[in-house]
Amino acid sequence: MIELDMSNVWGEFSLPQLLETEQEVFAAHKLLAEGKGPGNDYIGWLELPTAEDTAEMVRIKRAAERIRENSDVLVVIGIGGSYLGPRAAIELLKGQNHNLMNDDPQIFFAGNNLSTRAWQELCRLLEDKDFSINIISKSGTTTEPAIATRALRWMLERKYGTEKARARTYVTTDPENGALRQMANEEGWESFIIPPDVGGRYSVLTAVGLLPMAVAGIDISALMAGAAEAQKALDIRSFENPAWQYAAIRNLMYRHGKALELLCTYEPDAKMLGGWWQQLFGESEGKDGKGLFPVTAEFTADLHSLGQMIQEGQRNLFETVIRFAPPERKTAIEVDWKDLDGLNYLEGRTLDFVEEQAYLGTLSAHVDGGVPVIPISFGPVCEKTLGELFYFFELSCGISAYMLGVNPFNQPGVEYYKRNMFHLLGKPGY
Ligand code: PA5
Repeated sequence: MIELDMSNVWGEFSLPQLLETEQEVFAAHKLLAEGKGPGNDYIGWLELPTAEDTAEMVRIKRAAERIRENSDVLVVIGIGGSYLGPRAAIELLKGQNHNLMNDDPQIFFAGNNLSTRAWQELCRLLEDKDFSINIISKSGTTTEPAIATRALRWMLERKYGTEKARARTYVTTDPENGALRQMANEEGWESFIIPPDVGGRYSVLTAVGLLPMAVAGIDISALMAGAAEAQKALDIRSFENPAWQYAAIRNLMYRHGKALELLCTYEPDAKMLGGWWQQLFGESEGKDGKGLFPVTAEFTADLHSLGQMIQEGQRNLFETVIRFAPPERKTAIEVDWKDLDGLNYLEGRTLDFVEEQAYLGTLSAHVDGGVPVIPISFGPVCEKTLGELFYFFELSCGISAYMLGVNPFNQPGVEYYKRNMFHLLGKPGY
């Protein structure tokens, strides 16, 4: 289960100061759970793991099987939560290089940028490949995925003809409203639901994440079971709850002058998970002139780039470290009788042992350097652990944002760049 280690935060504030926030955390959790806080139309994600719609799960699995049978590639079209959630899950569980393995269909992502080079590369990758598309968008009018949808649906039609292209087009959107719902209804595309009370960055445990994951060969029932366990375990209203601990510590760090939260992992396959976390906390909390700026680092690689800044730069950050349980299959360090690199002292040691020492050494170095570190331990990398992790961070984020006094479920600031872009593009009405 999830465990948060608080032993390195006491240089910033005291245990009594943490306990003083109890009423506040309780009130924030209550507001969230009872749907009485700002943005309360968007708390459907709280119950998703246990309110799992079995019929929808069966349809997701059937569609995934069909795609696995008739497609070399699934192109997932989406941006924000519709992109980061599925990609984070697939890369963590199947590996960053999953597309180079031959066991499952390749998963490519489109509609998350406006890069001509990225588009042309995707076209080359799709040449001679059988593919299907999964368009994910609540509104259906977000510029990046809408442009990619136009291009890919015509590409499908040119390759397979209208009828067969229809059978290769899957949509995940609002059950009733929005342009994509209308398109799905008019075109007869198979469609899955983003519940109206679940916003983009809280949608990974809906068809948004589950369909691409299932196509990639991930056991989505095990993932949902993990999330359901977390939903139950994290419902306690006391400081035993790691979501309470994390929400309270983040807020105290912020109140004590910290400006940045650095999420670190020692797992390269968790890079996109960092992106998912960054959107979750950044879009939920960064408003009304408030909020910790969420940044990510991948250790040990980034110790050789950001390490200097963390150790001796501005003292305005703290670290949250995701720790997965050690792998069951070990890899031994090789022996070399010449020992020119001086590594023979590690003879008989395993790679994960070295990684653990790097982690412990980094932790104490950063704490000594004035950077508080909050390690959060999860189980081994697997579906169940990831389900727990998704739910843990979503719940912590909701509580933390209410403690901060902001609405976690809107993103008014994102509209600014869009308005300017639409004006420059000459969109009618802008
Ligand atoms: O969290 C959110 O709601 C946003 O980041 C959206 O996911 C993103 O803007 C995409 O929106 P849509 O699903 O309407 O295409």
